[in-house]
Amino acid sequence: MTRVFDPKGFIEEQVAAIRGAVGGGRAVVACSGGVDSTTAAVLASRALGDRLVGVYVDTGLMRKGETEQVSRTLKGLGVVFTVVHAADAFFAGLKGVEDPERKRAIIGSTFIDVFEREAERFRAEFLVQGTIAPDWIESGGQLRDRIKTHHNVAGLPATMKLKLVEPLRDIYKDEVRQVARALGVSVSERQPFPGPALAVRCLGEVTPEAIETVRAACAIVEEEIEAAAKGGVMALPWQYFAVLLPLKTVGVHGDLRVYGRTIAVRAVDSVDGMTASYSKIPYSVLDRISTRITNEVSGVNRVVHDVSNKPPATIEWE
Ligand code: XMP
Repeated sequence: MTRVFDPKGFIEEQVAAIRGAVGGGRAVVACSGGVDSTTAAVLASRALGDRLVGVYVDTGLMRKGETEQVSRTLKGLGVVFTVVHAADAFFAGLKGVEDPERKRAIIGSTFIDVFEREAERFRAEFLVQGTIAPDWIESGGQLRDRIKTHHNVAGLPATMKLKLVEPLRDIYKDEVRQVARALGVSVSERQPFPGPALAVRCLGEVTPEAIETVRAACAIVEEEIEAAAKGGVMALPWQYFAVLLPLKTVGVHGDLRVYGRTIAVRAVDSVDGMTASYSKIPYSVLDRISTRITNEVSGVNRVVHDVSNKPPATIEWE
């Protein structure tokens, strides 16, 4: 028999569970602006009222306009929050690091440093996170192989003092969206975005310049695909973004030889992120994306299209 998910029942159950877990204490909730963390924040806010504060960390690794958008969303939902600017700490930690798993561990522990500091200021001993089932399954939970360390799971340092509360731990993205809709969360249909943010879309060393490049390319992919979907040219994919590759290739600009970077365009259709098929983007849309990226993003002279499914690839490249 197929399981029927009941979002209203889930909300009641989790609000009570958060109250039970935190007791008379105080909590901080990690807010990234995505559907998972925003849903967790609204549940926790309903459960704890002014004994909760949201913490949004501006890591310097976020998408274009993200900090402003997150602030608007949380304000609209009545979640009390603070914005912590910590880009310097993230870039310093990531300096010289190329290995994807090390990047994830560094980002995880830098996040926790910030949350612990904020929790101390707020006298909170609990950290609410929007971890969902695929995050811990792919991080090697319950004897499964570790595909990648979702930073909010195995990226957490063993010495962490905060006690974790994870109301969405047992549900999948499609179910989170149902809960988000029932709570009136405005970002319920927003495409997923990974916790380690653009750092895992920037292959090789993560520098401010490389992040700027992939941020600009991601914005173009989002704009063009959303415009094409709005115009009825294609269906909106489940997820769509750009990846900066760690290689340079030869190109020509006017009469001059250039030796520039490569951007890969990735768009996938999926239900829960556990499997995915690459989206069949019309050539006219790929054309616009490629022309805009090579014209508007400094240092990029080549654009390629990723046509792999999950499995065997994963959705993100790292
Ligand atoms: P993969 O790349 O594993 O991604 O096929 C599956 C989905 O999860 C997102 N993703 C993450 N989400 N923390 C998150 O909250 C992470 O560390 C993380 N890594 C990947 C990815 O964007 C896709 O939607």
